[in-house]
Amino acid sequence: MKNYFLLALALLLLVNCKNQSASPTGLVTEKAMVVSAREEASRVGSEILKKGGNAFDAMIATEMALAVTYPFAGNLGGGGFMVYRKSNGDVGALDYREKAPISAKKNMYLDSTGSVIPAMSTSGATSVAVPGTIAGIFEVHRILGSLPMEEILAPVIALAEKGVVVTEKQAQRFLDYREDILKANNGFTSFPITCKAGDTIQYPTLANTLRKISKEGRKGFYEGKTAKILSDFILEKGGYVSMEDLSRYEAKWRQPIIFDYKDLRIISMCPPSSGGVTLDQIFKMIAPYDIAKFGHNSEMTIQLFTEAARRAYADRNYFLGDPDFVDIPLDVLLSDAYIRDRMANFTFDHATPSSEVEHGTIEIVESMETTHYSIVDEMGNAVSVTTTLNGAYGSKLYCDELGFFLNNEMDDFSAKPGIPNMFGLVGAVANSIAPEKRMLSSMTPTIVEKNGKLWLVVGTPGGSTIITAVAQTILNVYEFNLSMQQAVDAPRFHHQWLPDVLVFEQEGFSNELKEALKLKGYIISEGRTPIIGKVDAIRVLPYGRLEGGADKRGDDTAVGF
Ligand code: GLY
Repeated sequence: MKNYFLLALALLLLVNCKNQSASPTGLVTEKAMVVSAREEASRVGSEILKKGGNAFDAMIATEMALAVTYPFAGNLGGGGFMVYRKSNGDVGALDYREKAPISAKKNMYLDSTGSVIPAMSTSGATSVAVPGTIAGIFEVHRILGSLPMEEILAPVIALAEKGVVVTEKQAQRFLDYREDILKANNGFTSFPITCKAGDTIQYPTLANTLRKISKEGRKGFYEGKTAKILSDFILEKGGYVSMEDLSRYEAKWRQPIIFDYKDLRIISMCPPSSGGVTLDQIFKMIAPYDIAKFGHNSEMTIQLFTEAARRAYADRNYFLGDPDFVDIPLDVLLSDAYIRDRMANFTFDHATPSSEVEHGTIEIVESMETTHYSIVDEMGNAVSVTTTLNGAYGSKLYCDELGFFLNNEMDDFSAKPGIPNMFGLVGAVANSIAPEKRMLSSMTPTIVEKNGKLWLVVGTPGGSTIITAVAQTILNVYEFNLSMQQAVDAPRFHHQWLPDVLVFEQEGFSNELKEALKLKGYIISEGRTPIIGKVDAIRVLPYGRLEGGADKRGDDTAVGF
């Protein structure tokens, strides 16, 4: 009798545990929060919120502050995606992804024998696509902003003038990329790549460019003097982005991918990002299982997640591209019947070899060279933004006269079907190059509702690992009852169909676990134990308080009030 009582008590505690949200371990604030890759950028965004700006005003300030504080990925010369949820429940997405120049051609990176010309799409002027970020912030401001643009940009300009202290991690990045940056800029750059940790860097040229944009609006970037300097700079170095390309660039509002997972409603980025579609497929494939019972990062959890990811990534590359150029069979890809069929041969007994899963060919190479930030304001508006230059410092081409790096986003196209790009992604026809087309992305800015209310804002850099890192972070909080900070810091694993390898971060996965998986036919990547993602997220706690999850893997910091 006593034993039954104890068992009942234990079960009750277990059920309560699952129903109760985990106690916060990250920064908790009462009203509003910004989490980004640098404390200074989070602070600029948070100050805008404090003076009465909304999450969209803070988005603009944070995006630009990252260009000052985190030039590794924060940018004026790149692009990105924003997913939002307004306090009244309205949701939407803005696509300010870069696009191919008008003169772009399908085979522009191939030589006369049809082979891909090394480095042409990855570094220097030839790799630069038409930047979308400035169009993005002005479109956000036009539709959703509340403060005057001058007021939003003033603290960013002040920060660029006053300067930013170099962190240890930033100094290491300067060291790592110094030679590549010099090479791309013919041996000279005004970008301060010799600075050490603790130095303060001022960016007066960037401050001038931002001041011009602040005064003149998007025209101060896409037309007139700035556009001429920028296009002359790129064209003189053999690139393709002309004045006409710049003046024609438009950010686009899109319908986000929205799907349910148990009692969650997940809102994520639609094509030209693959993020939302792949996330949707993964969650639909694991939904029939009680993954919480399997345990966090347990053998069965890793198997189920891996097999779902394997199948979803196999579809990703074959079917997805710019929806303005290719028909994507979304109704089929996301239908219950299709998902059931994809998982029909799944078993916990052994791995499904990727050779038995059809479509596309994707190889894994993860990159951190993108950045994500999450924002919630006092009214309850939420913004999830991932923005990028593609590679580290993009094309490495730094425009001395304007003070910023240019992207190498042309490499996210498939230069030639079947040939991998710099991140090992092997494209299909859906992602081939065409004039003014947007290249396929993996960026997955995401917002999650629980019981109809805002619950999580989440996203990460990490190339093709972005999608699995976002999915695992959501599962960590929802299924495994971790706090936001714990969920972000928890060790991650990744599989993306091809190459058929399971990759683990260094910490948190035992040799016994890996051996057990190997016995079931999983191929473990032994040599490489990379960082998988650098997640910045916010959880809404009971009574509307907010918990930040700022990834310990970087300098990422939550700031709020
Ligand atoms: N450039 C990385 C991505 O868009 O996924």
